[in-house]
Amino acid sequence: MAYLLGIDVGTTGTKALLINEAGGVVANATYEYPMYTPRPQWAEQDPEDWWQACIKAIRRVLRDADIRADEIHGIGLTGQMHGMVMLDAQGKVLRPCIMWNDQRSWAQCEWIMNTIGRERFLELTLNPALPGFTAPKIIWTRENEPEVYARAAKVLLPKDYVRYRLTGAYATEVSGASGTALFDVGNRTWSDVVLEELGIPKEWMPPCYESVEITGKIGAGVAELTGLRAGTPVVGGAGDQAASAVGTGIVEPGLVSVTLGTSGVVFAYTETPSRDPEGRLHTFCHAVPGKWHVMGVTLSAGGSLRWFRDTLGQAERDIARLSGVDPYDIITAEAAKAPAGCEGLIFLPYLTGERTPYADPNARGCFIGLTLRHDKRYMARAVLEGVAYSLRDSIELFRDLAIPIQQVRAVGGGARSRMWRQIWADVFGTELVTINVTDSTAYGAALLAGVGTGVYASVPTACEATIRIVDRTEPDPEDQATYNEYYPVYRSLYRALKPAFDAVAAIE
Ligand code: XUL
Repeated sequence: MAYLLGIDVGTTGTKALLINEAGGVVANATYEYPMYTPRPQWAEQDPEDWWQACIKAIRRVLRDADIRADEIHGIGLTGQMHGMVMLDAQGKVLRPCIMWNDQRSWAQCEWIMNTIGRERFLELTLNPALPGFTAPKIIWTRENEPEVYARAAKVLLPKDYVRYRLTGAYATEVSGASGTALFDVGNRTWSDVVLEELGIPKEWMPPCYESVEITGKIGAGVAELTGLRAGTPVVGGAGDQAASAVGTGIVEPGLVSVTLGTSGVVFAYTETPSRDPEGRLHTFCHAVPGKWHVMGVTLSAGGSLRWFRDTLGQAERDIARLSGVDPYDIITAEAAKAPAGCEGLIFLPYLTGERTPYADPNARGCFIGLTLRHDKRYMARAVLEGVAYSLRDSIELFRDLAIPIQQVRAVGGGARSRMWRQIWADVFGTELVTINVTDSTAYGAALLAGVGTGVYASVPTACEATIRIVDRTEPDPEDQATYNEYYPVYRSLYRALKPAFDAVAAIE
């Protein structure tokens, strides 16, 4: 039996997941690490922490699985995207990683777009420059830490730093490179024009592979450290979203996924690069060779419900503790007592600004339409609905681009809630399904390793062999009609409130 290892260098921890070729999960281990916020809006991590967590996770999985190391045919890497790991000529890390959720580089984004020209930049990279992305972080370092910048010789993404430690090779792959703002996404190669005009040396960027290609092999020292076999191939893998899409089976037209963690990501497969003319969606290379995807991100999706639980849900948390149930189950059961549409109470989930469709750090969360009739049950339901409306904003952008949507697959923590799934089906107006895979990101990376090492013939074949639908939710026509009436109102609110958001930000 062939085994495959997926390694996910995530935001809260690194996970190693071992599957067999039939898709069964054999073992899985995660080791956590901190995220540092030395200033408001900054987010940094120590790459050494990822590496130590990675070694521990691999060792743990090998111990638990009780298989021989030579039965592992390949390793696939995935992880948090966009982060900047800057190395010197000896491969030493020069400063902590500036992460995907770091917001310090808005000014540098503006500079990038002005230097190259907004339209031209969108044409070259298919995306706008956002502070989440890598290039503005490099420019920020040039402007604010010239002594660090002067010693730089390589820039890697987080998972590619772990690849470097595992194999000694500098390499990346197309889906991760797409989120650097330095990549010609349409042609699947670094953009010489953008690199040159921004003054970033091309030799800093590692060679770029397709996600299923072998990028290096486990070295002898690492084999000793981890228990892996020296020479085990490591494939390109993918950014966490593209890998999760593979682990969810989003590898053919008509399929869309919604991944609900702190953020909510709506992801669609496309045969050709499909671009929103205003740059509101991300257009990135898919992990399926020669294919692309579009993606929209609601920054506070599960995060909005967590905020509700932590600020307004004290009673629910107490009951949950006493009765041994999950507080979210109590909150959603209460929310179910309010009617669809919440009799006009609408929640805007912009608690940490927003990315899609409004790349706006000033946007704020709001309850609009409160009356004396509205109690906490209504407010809980409004949070669930507001997040669903925000996810629908991305789906509507897909529809505008004529991207077919036949089925939405729900994954991530929020997909466990039957009630939330029903709201999504009703708000999106589509069938919503769940699948057998839970850790779709590491799972997808393991499948990519299987394709790259010949265990499966292609990415779609790998998905067919392993991923099954386990539950289906159909829209309820009555509630769908209610949401269709409220959705345009929801949509109009951001624009109406934008001047107030900016005014509040100016006062702070
Ligand atoms: C994708 C994105 C997140 C991060 C962290 O654009 O920002 O998915 O990769 O999970």
